[in-house]
Amino acid sequence: MDARFTIHETTDIGPDIARLVVDAPRVARHARAGQFVIVRPSADSERIPLTICDADPVAGTITLVVQAIGGTTIEINAMNEGSSFSDVLGPLGLPTEIEHFGTCVVVAGGVGVAIVLPVAKALADAGNRVTGIVGARDADHLILVDEMRDVCDEVLLATEDGSVGATGFVTDVLDVVVGSKDVDRVLTAGPIPMMSAVAELTRPYGIRTIASLNPIMVDGTGMCGGCRVTVGGETLFACIDGPEFDAHAVDFPSLQKRNEAYRSFEACRLEDAREVLDA
Ligand code: FAD
Ligand code: FES
Ligand code: MG
Repeated sequence: MDARFTIHETTDIGPDIARLVVDAPRVARHARAGQFVIVRPSADSERIPLTICDADPVAGTITLVVQAIGGTTIEINAMNEGSSFSDVLGPLGLPTEIEHFGTCVVVAGGVGVAIVLPVAKALADAGNRVTGIVGARDADHLILVDEMRDVCDEVLLATEDGSVGATGFVTDVLDVVVGSKDVDRVLTAGPIPMMSAVAELTRPYGIRTIASLNPIMVDGTGMCGGCRVTVGGETLFACIDGPEFDAHAVDFPSLQKRNEAYRSFEACRLEDAREVLDA
């Protein structure tokens, strides 16, 4: 394990969304697209998973993109340059399957862009034509669009309020794309209802569709059972069998239900985090 996980740079890239460049030489050397780390900002924090959005093996750093939505993510985004994470464990999870598939579409909502960006880059590097579809509630919440444009052949945007790109959801844009050209593979990351809708849209076309799932994770090593997901009727652990699975086989309603199981506890932690920040 790396001794210190110092934050080199922290940049606000959207409302409550920060990009952090963190010292983690061993993780940076081994990271591949689709993998994640489990971090603890301080020794008494809970552990949370975050995607390795980028890795620089020469500088020995990884890039994390964090949306502050609760106690631990608020704690992380309040950390300053020069401060250190208590621990950063990884790289964890199976890397994305990367081959020359042909035409690929990556579909992301909200902070899901941080998850699809390294995958889009790896697919493009393997010679695929890559279309990125990125959605958010409004223009302010669209993140990493320039970075997506750097790696994709085209990037299509959707906002719910129509402030930029198509008005509506990423699935409205995906509907047009799969109706107008042959698509060999779709990969999606974002809110559970969005990934479920993407799966239903591609199912009749028989397009192989991969979802990067976001169940609650604790240890990230297959020991605690926290990240149990049902895929094709089988119980699997997202931290060691995933996080990417065949979206047409995922039981999305049970994933949604499990992720909501700790809502009252999370609300208390959120209050605690706000009190600490306000003090
Ligand atoms: P809380 O208020 O505790 O929880 C808010 C919601 O976050 C919960 O309802 C639940 O759905 C989810 N959540 C809570 N605890 C966990 C946990 N231990 N593990 C997973 N989900 C949890 N978020 C990012 O901003 N950037 C990323 O790159 C990113 N990558 C992820 C990669 C993976 C493989 C997974 C599983 C999740 C990823 N997430 C990412 C989601 C992130 O882990 C959660 O937003 C975070 O754990 C919320 O913790 P909290 O204490 O701030 O919020
Ligand atoms: Fe504990 Fe996957 S996070 S088994
Ligand atoms: Mg929490």
